[in-house]
Amino acid sequence: MKDAAAWRDYFVATDDEGLIALAAAASRAVQSLDQPRPGPRTNLTPAELRARVRALDVCPYEGVDLSTVLDELGTAVWAHGVRPLDVACVAHLHPPSVVPAVVTELSIAAANQSMDSWDQAPVATEVELHLMDFLGERIGFPASASGVMTSGGTASNVLGLTLARSWAASKVGVDVLKSGLPEEARRWRFVASDQAHFSVQRAAGQLGLGRDAVVSVATDSAGAMDLVALDAALARLDDQGLIPIAFSATAGTTDLGAIDPLAAIGQRARERGAWFHVDAAVAGAFVMSDALGPRVSGIELADSVTVDFHKLWWQPFNASALVVRDVEHFDLLRVRSNYLDRGDELEGMINLVGRSLDTSRRFDAAKVVASLRTIGQRDFAAMLEHLVELSDYCAQRIEQSTDFALLAPSSAVTCVFDAPAASASDLRRVQQELLAEGVMVLGRTEIRGRAALKFTFMNPLATRTDVDQLLDIVAERLRAG
Ligand SMILES: Cc1ncc(COP(=O)(O)O)c(C=O)c1O
Repeated sequence: MKDAAAWRDYFVATDDEGLIALAAAASRAVQSLDQPRPGPRTNLTPAELRARVRALDVCPYEGVDLSTVLDELGTAVWAHGVRPLDVACVAHLHPPSVVPAVVTELSIAAANQSMDSWDQAPVATEVELHLMDFLGERIGFPASASGVMTSGGTASNVLGLTLARSWAASKVGVDVLKSGLPEEARRWRFVASDQAHFSVQRAAGQLGLGRDAVVSVATDSAGAMDLVALDAALARLDDQGLIPIAFSATAGTTDLGAIDPLAAIGQRARERGAWFHVDAAVAGAFVMSDALGPRVSGIELADSVTVDFHKLWWQPFNASALVVRDVEHFDLLRVRSNYLDRGDELEGMINLVGRSLDTSRRFDAAKVVASLRTIGQRDFAAMLEHLVELSDYCAQRIEQSTDFALLAPSSAVTCVFDAPAASASDLRRVQQELLAEGVMVLGRTEIRGRAALKFTFMNPLATRTDVDQLLDIVAERLRAG
């Protein structure tokens, strides 16, 4: 039985050597993730995985030595995880993590600052604000901008659209957090394209407007919002006496990688006094590249922007941000509390809980800053440009091939295609077989009712030769069917 003196070992790695030894054990445990080309996953079945995991006693009466536990995690868990660094791991916007972020995660966990209040995160608050200002500048926002970190693009979109709804209510003199939705909210609508992420619908549902309040605007052949369709939709809303309170544009749609015409949508939002939200979860990183930045021009007109660091910024989950044009808009969310955010703090002691839908929150900004400082703008932009170039190359290869048909050109890092000679069930078979065998984690989706396969290029170490090989593997499987 351990006493309080021994319990210390649970909280303090007594000396540098202790911490280094533990970090080395953790690193050994994940080593299998770094092996060159072992495949994107092992081929164990769901039942086999379950058996290995269930063999671990979650909480034995007497604890087990940490290095043993880390070794067990290595063999039972990490070895059978999906490997985002493998070039055949191409299903989702799921990046390999950069090393500076991985090691900073250790210090984030050890220091355990909580971002809700200044008295739990005095300097961490300043780091997060510094990062938000940096992002605001890259976006082209005025000095009034700021932001807050969230757990992901879904959370950032919900937060942005929550602000939009509260702002619309405030304009008719209603504090929606206090009194609920005003009567006229029945006529409120969110406008988004038919390729917008489902979190826009989810936000409308959660915010009491209902999913039916999302006006789904048709997209062009590339999957970007069609402005003629937008104007027609707005005219219909006018005829019906309905009010578009927020326009949500997407910079980098999930499947097709399309970027909506941001400037034109932003202008329409302004004309109607509506909130302009840009879901730049995917292409937000383009603000870091001189070559790609122009693809998201018009983003600077937004009232709020979602940027996901755990996509094309190669951060481990979770790391996202909502950046707003005017920091004062966060006041629409603020709920004072006696213990956390009284509002009588000394000058400069900012409680970020006032900006967030969370209370306790991780200090994820640290790993983003550590990564950006380590990589630098030049290499960051070069890696991003390489991924866009790979996706363009893949599109070209598909267009030249007789096996495949490209569904749309991408402006970001995805490539969506089908095979004229194959049925939806063939595509399903190939994707499921490759996954089960651990050969490829391939994307499968549906575009306008048509079954499709998808590559998502997130790994800057991948090459054109890898793309050729991926296409060959899929073509061969389709033929074998
Ligand atoms: C355009 C877009 N927005 C939002 C999200 C949601 O992001 P998250 O998974 O971080 O919640 C995604 C996820 O892929 C996305 O593609």
